Amino acid sequence: MTVSLEQLRRCHVAVDLGAARTRVYVKGMGLVVDEPSVAAVNIRTGALIAVGTFAEQMTGRTPDHIRVVRPVSGGTVIDIEMAQRMLRQLLGTTLRRRLRRKLRLRAAACTPHDADPLAQRAAVETLVGLGASRVELVDTLIAAAVGCGLPVEQPTATMIMVCGAASTQIAVLSLGSIVTAQRVPVGGDAIDRAVIEHLRHQHELMLPSQSVRPLQLALSGNGLTLQGPVSTEIHGRDVATGLARSVQVETAAVRSAIHTPLTAVLDGIGRVLRDCPPDLVADLADRGIMMVGGSALLPGLDQMLRNATGMPVHIAERPDICAVLGLGAMLDGKIAPMVLNPLVG
Ligand SMILES: Nc1ncnc2c1ncn2[C@@H]1O[C@H](COP(=O)(O)OP(=O)(O)OP(=O)(O)O)[C@@H](O)[C@H]1O
Ligand SMILES: [Mg+2]
Repeated sequence: MTVSLEQLRRCHVAVDLGAARTRVYVKGMGLVVDEPSVAAVNIRTGALIAVGTFAEQMTGRTPDHIRVVRPVSGGTVIDIEMAQRMLRQLLGTTLRRRLRRKLRLRAAACTPHDADPLAQRAAVETLVGLGASRVELVDTLIAAAVGCGLPVEQPTATMIMVCGAASTQIAVLSLGSIVTAQRVPVGGDAIDRAVIEHLRHQHELMLPSQSVRPLQLALSGNGLTLQGPVSTEIHGRDVATGLARSVQVETAAVRSAIHTPLTAVLDGIGRVLRDCPPDLVADLADRGIMMVGGSALLPGLDQMLRNATGMPVHIAERPDICAVLGLGAMLDGKIAPMVLNPLVG
């Protein structure tokens, strides 16, 4: 990490291209973009119609010739050209001009823990297309741990769980590096899908498309916690008749529907702990798990993990933007490299 910290300090811009949201941090300016990774395209002319929040609102509401696309899937850029066009638009003209003025623009990007060379290449190509002459890749787990202020550089174990939209990454860090890590392909999207399926099967109700986040609807008012309301009213469309209908949904049933995707995450935590040296596991029992990523905001998720693992669980202050803020802190030189004092004599 020490070597790349030097390199990172020379970068001008940090990018976190997520399956759900794109975030950009510009050195000296802070977080300048935090928008959904969505673009709306006219497929007749190829023209870009909208990006970010506006494009996301179009989901499920477009005529045939407009298609809403997500150039990032499962943490990997799957459509490099579209990702570049989306990023260019999200940055806006003023910011783009400002960055273009840099003689040799250097960029940093975070990539999922076990990103394969192809995925890494796609991230690099995307930023090179935007004018970067050099791109540094940082593991999301390290970036997020730095972003939420975990003492990554110290010889104590810290456990971090990055709950993204497409995947959940779990790792034990010590001395600035990853000791063991797992990536589980279950994230906020899978949890949303579990709730949608539950409503469809149990109540024959279809929710309006993603534009209204189904989960927020279903779980408004701390629905996932035991202290929350017993049931909540959901509006949707009847599966058979297609007419608008509202039903009372028991929040306990929604909670149990969510348990299914969560078991994969719990398995992941178990695997990480099993691979971890015993000394570090002892540290973890006191320090617990730090949750970051947008899905960490899911009400009650921390309590579920606490119950299942028996370990303390904390949520970072701004879990959704931790990774990009961590990258930003490294760019701004706020992270001091670890200095090991060799014992003399
Ligand atoms: N307040 C909230 N309550 C529940 N879920 C939320 C909340 N805010 C965001 N989410 C969920 O968090 C997810 C987005 O998290 P995040 O922004 O970390 O994703 P990402 O970085 O784009 O994805 P990935 O890292 O997997 O590529 C979405 O699935 C969204 O539904
Ligand atoms: Mg992410």
